[in-house]
Amino acid sequence: MHDLEKLITQATADFAAATELARLEEVKAAYLGKDGSLTALLKGLGKLPAEERKTAGAAINVAKTRVETALAERREALRAAQLEAQLAAEALDVTLPGRGQGRGTLHPVTRTLDRIEQLFRSIGFAVADGPEIETDWHNFTALNTPEKHPARSMHDTFYLLDAAGQVREDILLRTHTSPVQIRSMLAHVEQHKHLDVMPELRVICPGRVYRVDSDATHSPMFHQVEGLWVGANVSFADLKGVVADFLRRFFESDDLKVRFRPSFFPFTEPSAEIDVAFMSGPMEGRWLEIAGCGMVHPNVLRFGGVDPEKYTGFAFGMGPDRLTMLRYGINDLRLFYDGDLRFLSQFQ
Ligand code: PHE
Repeated sequence: MHDLEKLITQATADFAAATELARLEEVKAAYLGKDGSLTALLKGLGKLPAEERKTAGAAINVAKTRVETALAERREALRAAQLEAQLAAEALDVTLPGRGQGRGTLHPVTRTLDRIEQLFRSIGFAVADGPEIETDWHNFTALNTPEKHPARSMHDTFYLLDAAGQVREDILLRTHTSPVQIRSMLAHVEQHKHLDVMPELRVICPGRVYRVDSDATHSPMFHQVEGLWVGANVSFADLKGVVADFLRRFFESDDLKVRFRPSFFPFTEPSAEIDVAFMSGPMEGRWLEIAGCGMVHPNVLRFGGVDPEKYTGFAFGMGPDRLTMLRYGINDLRLFYDGDLRFLSQFQ
């Protein structure tokens, strides 16, 4: 019996020494396998005298059960350890910040354009669109711009080439959004031609425009927002009211100063430049030009199919890039077009 105790102790120690399940099964074979020591003891029972056989058999079976129990416990312990290790290896640290997809932001100029549209929509303006590749007729002729006007020169205007690489003088990149005045009037007149009295036309057109120009305050591509209001009794007073009210709402400032400075455009008469000045902050007291405007020239109304004897109108063209610079305190226009995320991501 002493031998059996030793055997159990040895088996338990051998099981404990096995640190992997596969190794444990090999160790098991040495005790419980076909040629294992416990199996051999059981086989040897037959050689014992009959009177000893019963007690010896019972003792060996008890020992076998204890070895099997030790084996099962060790097997369980190794399985648990293996699972533990696997869980640790595959663990997710749910407190790590996610990789995420960067949430883009709207470009500051886009935000300004959205805001301008929203403010003008609130006073009954529709929002129109026009082509960036424009005809010379819409961009200049119909806007009462004379044949030899300097704006028409190739120093100022991007003309398009034909298939043979020759400059075509009849198509160009629009130099302002004013051609949309013509397109809007023609479409409006056509739409309402069956009526005796044409309903008022109130429209703005935000968009890209192009000029041969590039420095800190000029980019060859920039934005404009055209405004046009045509009706039976539209006056310069309406123009002043609409623009001044818009600017105060845009800059959220009641004490913004707005001034209309006499100027000249071929397509308006009289014409003015619109300047603004802030009464506080870093730009305090400095006048900044932000738009051109005026009463639509009778020739332009006529080109738009509108009878200047019956209707009058005002138009303005403002620079939303400038408005954005003023609103956010940005001093270099080129920042808008560099695509630098360090700059752009500030406009969350
Ligand atoms: N089109 C003019 C410009 O680009 C601005 C303007 C628009 C002036 C409408 C008067 C009326 O400078």
